[in-house]
Amino acid sequence: MSQSQAPVGIFDSGVGGLSVLREIRQLLPNESLLYVADSGHVPYGEKSPEYIRERCVRITEHLLAQGAKALVLACNTATAAAAAELRERYPNLPIVGMEPAVKPAAAATRTGVVGVLATTGTLKSARFAALLDRFASDVRVITQPCPGLVECIEAGELQAPATRELLQSYVAPLLAEGCDTLILGCTHYPFLRPLLSALVPASVSLVDTGAAVARQLQRLLQQHDVQGVGPARPTCYWSSGEPERLRKVLPILLEDDGEVAFFN
Ligand code: DGL
Repeated sequence: MSQSQAPVGIFDSGVGGLSVLREIRQLLPNESLLYVADSGHVPYGEKSPEYIRERCVRITEHLLAQGAKALVLACNTATAAAAAELRERYPNLPIVGMEPAVKPAAAATRTGVVGVLATTGTLKSARFAALLDRFASDVRVITQPCPGLVECIEAGELQAPATRELLQSYVAPLLAEGCDTLILGCTHYPFLRPLLSALVPASVSLVDTGAAVARQLQRLLQQHDVQGVGPARPTCYWSSGEPERLRKVLPILLEDDGEVAFFN
């Protein structure tokens, strides 16, 4: 297979990266995609960086064995823990990571107060601290870890009363502090946009980096001269959790059907 026909490998701790896959599909319809949900090890947000790095190497090896020409870490927590190591191990592989949208949020806020919803792991990382130092010196940033929320999304419970209650408990303190811009700093959270829009005033902006990641992938594929020429093959999915569970939530999260294989 020529490199341009080779697929792009995308992964996350679970189904969150599908919010990024959706953006990639829209911008780059000629690319064939592979997706690994590490749902047997979700949530990454409460795991150690060492544990996450080990999982990321294992998943990358799997995607490379499937012929991936590029890698997207569709997970803020995995990027914070493992992007540097993966880039060192695979220097010739185009790798796109992601981080909370601090820069655009700092530019957009009118109240000067920005809220960040993300995992404990992302918020504790040195990478996030560096991001704040670099782009948020002129604004007040209030961070909110959200334990439990990822599990609601993994279950496809995007509108359930329990999901709403948990989300409300995380968002209310940020609104009380005057945040007018909320960063969705975990790839699972864009699936809660409809629920969030009902919980926050219309004047509050919600920002995430899915579309920016797709554009960065496009740039990298161009630089390496490996852009897909299409037609894209159906997406292949793997889960380290129960494949049946991913198969059930695919239509809810992505309006997609697909075969899901087990990956350990
Ligand atoms: N979706 C992931 C992120 O963007 C991590 C969620 C988790 O497993 O805790 O950070």
